[in-house]
Amino acid sequence: MKQLVYINACIRGAESRTRKLAEAMLHELAQRYEITEIDLSNYDPGCITEDIFKRRQQIGLPEDDLRYGNKIATADLIVVAAPFWDMSFPAVLKAFIEHMCAPGLTFKYNPDGSNQGICRAEKMLYITTRGGLTKTGSRLDQGTSYLKAICWLWGIPQVKTFAVTGTDMCTPEELAEIMAKATEKGRALCRKL
Ligand SMILES: Cc1cc2nc3c(=O)[nH]c(=O)nc-3n(C[C@H](O)[C@H](O)[C@H](O)COP(=O)(O)O)c2cc1C
Repeated sequence: MKQLVYINACIRGAESRTRKLAEAMLHELAQRYEITEIDLSNYDPGCITEDIFKRRQQIGLPEDDLRYGNKIATADLIVVAAPFWDMSFPAVLKAFIEHMCAPGLTFKYNPDGSNQGICRAEKMLYITTRGGLTKTGSRLDQGTSYLKAICWLWGIPQVKTFAVTGTDMCTPEELAEIMAKATEKGRALCRKL
C-alpha cells in the first residue's frame, strides 16, 4: 500500500475546523494509503537553539528527527493540516520543518554545492481554514508560499492548497454550511489524488 504522512498542526485539537476537514479528506485517502500521523498539537520539537545545533553537528540528528524525516522522505503523499495563523500557520509547524531540513534527511548537497531534494512524494496537500478572506497564492498567504519553497528544497514538485476562507466572518449556521460544502469538495479532490 502507498504511504501517506499526515502532519497535523491543528492546535485546537478536536475543536479545530481544519482538523475536522482534514480528517474527512483523510478518510477518503485511507482507502489507498497507509497513514502515519505526526501530531504537532501534542509534540513540539522546539526551535533549534545553539545547544541543539551543536549536538546535531557533533552527535548527529536526534532519534525523533531521523524517524520522522525518514517517514517524510519515503512517503508517496504528504498532507499538512494547519489553521491560518498570523498570515501562515502555527509556529510549531515551522519548528518541526526546521528539524526536518537536514542534509541527508530530506535533501542533499551535490558536489557543486547545489541542493537536491531526496523526498519521494510527487505532491503535498496543504489543508487550511482562514478566519478572513486571504486568497490562496496571494502575497498575504505565507503558508502556501513557504510550503512551496520547502517542497522545492525537499524535491516535491507540487503543492496543492485546499483552503476554506471566512470562517470567522459568518454566523454558526453559515459556517456549518460552508464547512459541509468544503468537506464534500475536499473528499472529491481526495478521490482523484
Ligand atoms: C492565534 C491565531 C491567529 C490567527 N491569525 C489569522 C490570520 O492571520 N488571518 C486570518 O484570516 N485568520 C486568522 N486566525 C483565524 C483562524 O484562521 C480561523 O479561526 C481558523 O478557521 C481556525 O482554524 P481551527 O478551527 O482549525 O483552529 C487566527 C486565529 C488564531 C487563534
